[in-house]
Amino acid sequence: MECLGIDIGGSGIKGAIVDIASGKLVSERVRIPTPEPATPDAVTERVRELVTQFSWQGPIGCGFPAVISNGVAKTAANIDAAWIGIDVAATFQEATGCSCVVANDADVAGLAEMRFGEGTGRTGSVLFVAIGTGIGTALFYNGQLYPNTEFGHLRLKNGLAERYASAAVRKKESLGWKAWSKRLNRFFVQVERVLSPELIIIGGGVSRKHEKYFSMLDVQAELLPAKLRNRAGIIGAACLAAEHLNR
Ligand code: BGC
Repeated sequence: MECLGIDIGGSGIKGAIVDIASGKLVSERVRIPTPEPATPDAVTERVRELVTQFSWQGPIGCGFPAVISNGVAKTAANIDAAWIGIDVAATFQEATGCSCVVANDADVAGLAEMRFGEGTGRTGSVLFVAIGTGIGTALFYNGQLYPNTEFGHLRLKNGLAERYASAAVRKKESLGWKAWSKRLNRFFVQVERVLSPELIIIGGGVSRKHEKYFSMLDVQAELLPAKLRNRAGIIGAACLAAEHLNR
């Protein structure tokens, strides 16, 4: 079975067709910049464009950068606040004519990593941390997801942790890897103060550059870069669509 996975991020909307059994992309990966401002109309239009580019008519799974409850966005830290209260799944379904399921972006990426990546077969507690425009998290125990955790919204330096330690902040403030690692360490101290994951998997674009900063990270947990790199969001979203259909 194949589904279209779409990963909506703070800077890009990425999509590909995924073979659910293997977790492999079976099409090219298409990336469209996230519109600014990322209003419901503008984002929905881009999603429609993406689906048209693939001439896709089957099920769609979508990772969205907000707390999502039954398809409805409850928060909006890195997208336009007008999304709050909107049924994202119903909106995309209406615009594309395809059946659509939506969940938090980090949760779906984490699910992919647990199924096909470093989390495969792992029991115990695993925290997946997607570092990009913001910091998204997905918490697993014995492979089961506790949805919508927002550890990137812990307070650090009088603001959100993600506004202090995300990959986008590293670029914006031109921080070197060492200076950025110090910030990430402060974040992980807060996380490990309240949670003791056995394994932390770092996802997002920076997972590709792990040699640059992993040795400077000081965490109690075992630390690994995501195996699926930044494809995890697309793969997890597609798997979500497949599961939803089979219910
Ligand atoms: C949002 C999360 C999201 C993360 C990564 C945060 O600002 O609150 O829901 O997972 O960004 O996109």
